[in-house]
Amino acid sequence: MATETPSGPDTGSETGRASTASATSTDDSGRVAAVTGATGFLGTALCERLLAEGWTVRGLSRPTSDRGDLDDVEWYVGDLFEPETLRSLVDGADAVFHLAGIGLWSADAETVERVNREGTGNVLDACRAGDVGRLVFTSTAGTRRAVEDDEFATETDIAEPIGAYQRSKATAERFVDRYAADSNGCDDSGGDGDAVTVHPTSIFGPGDADFTAQLLSMGLDRTMPAYLPGGLSIVGLEDVIDGILAAYEHGGNGEHYILGGENLTYDRAVDRIATFAGGSPARLPVPAAAIHAAGPVAEVVGTVTDRQGFPFDRQMARLATDRMFYSSRKAHEELGYEYQPLEAHLPAALEWYRTECQ
Ligand SMILES: NC(=O)c1ccc[n+]([C@@H]2O[C@H](COP(=O)([O-])OP(=O)(O)OC[C@H]3O[C@@H](n4cnc5c(N)ncnc54)[C@H](OP(=O)(O)O)[C@@H]3O)[C@@H](O)[C@H]2O)c1
Repeated sequence: MATETPSGPDTGSETGRASTASATSTDDSGRVAAVTGATGFLGTALCERLLAEGWTVRGLSRPTSDRGDLDDVEWYVGDLFEPETLRSLVDGADAVFHLAGIGLWSADAETVERVNREGTGNVLDACRAGDVGRLVFTSTAGTRRAVEDDEFATETDIAEPIGAYQRSKATAERFVDRYAADSNGCDDSGGDGDAVTVHPTSIFGPGDADFTAQLLSMGLDRTMPAYLPGGLSIVGLEDVIDGILAAYEHGGNGEHYILGGENLTYDRAVDRIATFAGGSPARLPVPAAAIHAAGPVAEVVGTVTDRQGFPFDRQMARLATDRMFYSSRKAHEELGYEYQPLEAHLPAALEWYRTECQ
């Protein structure tokens, strides 16, 4: 079990790794990054990239987190509700990448609200109290939705949140905007924030047992009977990391950037996976009407049993059948952000899926 050191990094000695980290061990020739959510799907890949680029990386890890192979990360053991750990994590960091978050797949609505909203507030408090460079907050494209007849949602299409996840992320975004406004002289609450918010769409890549594994199974698995109607923006893991780093380097203070990928209907995405991998895609779309009908049932069941199912409620049922397409034009123009087609991300994702999920 890891040593719990609320005011400094865990050296990793009890987990069998070389003990290379100390509270003051920053590489003077490189920059220091503090990463929350470092043990997650996106955070792990971000840490790997930062280390490869010569950053000193501090990662927040819960005592129970799986830290994988990230031996060179300086681990700060604690959670988003331990202010002292957060303060020591971020103090002296050139960049704070706040990725920690939780969705309705893995927690109840109350926990989702608390982690995403209050957790972000706590990270900002820690930044205000310390000497930190820029904060990059990872929200979700889900807080944006195309209006009326527009096909693609942009950063300005702020949507009425649906469900606890979107609601908590939308509130967290406002906290971050306020923190960023402090440094623009727009606010007199005493901080000196510098922050950018990124909005990834659906991230596809190795290590994601949720969305990525489900989409791949629809393209490969003969036993999968059906796919959802509607569509989504699928963005490769490495493209999102490029976007996060570009937001750190080039983003405007207080700005928001959608980090999207190809906009595809589910059947098109599934067909392309099947073609690439020689699989046999799910052929039958689930009728939208059936999903809309199931929404209210799941809502009642969820209320009575306090358990989450899919679709979670009527509004979410409707979302599952819509085309949730996004424009990444702003990130392209201001950050130089580019995304690759789905096929560019399939080899790594398939290799992982076949090793870990089949
Ligand atoms: N994946 C996507 O398609 C997608 C799309 C848009 C936005 N995002 C956002 O991107 C971020 C990363 O997503 P992901 O897919 O990498 O999620 P993930 O794999 O579930 O990772 C979540 C991370 O947050 C940490 N965490 C959760 N609750 C915490 C707490 N109370 N204190 C400290 N750490 C806590 C987890 O720690 P443990 O390892 O201990 O669980 C884990 O490191 C999230 O904010 C998510 O909302 C993801």
